[in-house]
Amino acid sequence: MADMAFSRARFGRADIRLPDPVPAHPLLDGLPEIGRGEYSIVLALPDGARVRKVVSSPADHFFLTADDRPRGIHFPTVFADHGVIGRARSGALMHLLELERLEPLAAHAEAAAQAERLQTAYWQACLGFARLGADMGRIALFHLIESPPPLPDTLIAALCALSDFIEAYQVRPDILSEGNLMARADGTLVFSDPVFLG
Ligand SMILES: Nc1ncnc2c1ncn2[C@@H]1O[C@H](COP(=O)(O)OP(=O)(O)O)[C@@H](O)[C@H]1O
Ligand SMILES: [Mg+2]
Repeated sequence: MADMAFSRARFGRADIRLPDPVPAHPLLDGLPEIGRGEYSIVLALPDGARVRKVVSSPADHFFLTADDRPRGIHFPTVFADHGVIGRARSGALMHLLELERLEPLAAHAEAAAQAERLQTAYWQACLGFARLGADMGRIALFHLIESPPPLPDTLIAALCALSDFIEAYQVRPDILSEGNLMARADGTLVFSDPVFLG
């Protein structure tokens, strides 16, 4: 894990949080905020199974709403797209989505072990392609698909789907930042927030 802490520190964005207040909106009234990143705010619905997510990054919006977004057990299930609900201080539109509630990776769970294997191999590949600058992550992902670490076939297939999406939408992978890989209640590793605009 020391390597991972290093890689996150190197990315240097771990502590940046969207500064905006939760937008005033009837679908958000009274919901507790349970997560916040650089571009998104996540609020829990009372049923414990779903969340509402305010996303201000076009990359996240494409990832969660595009017809050809990656699907399958390792990607979040999206129940509703409530459309644009405002504009962030950054100038970006805020979209409101409803999706399944996911959990942080629990320390000794299989999903955490898979994430560790995946992230370690990805980070090693990134180091090998650091000279490519902005293309580093995309190329490291190709490399990972060509020579995958020991992971279930479903996860390798999900990496392929993720890579196809990244190429089609000209976005970049971020499978290292805290909270971008999460787990479903049944223990499945989920790529919750694997792309950014760059
Ligand atoms: N579906 C979800 N269910 C529960 N919490 C979530 C969910 N998606 C994200 N979160 C929490 O919200 C935080 C920010 O979400 P994330 O998708 O990483 O946003 P950003 O685009 O700002 O990085 C995550 O680190 C995680 O703790
Ligand atoms: Mg994130």
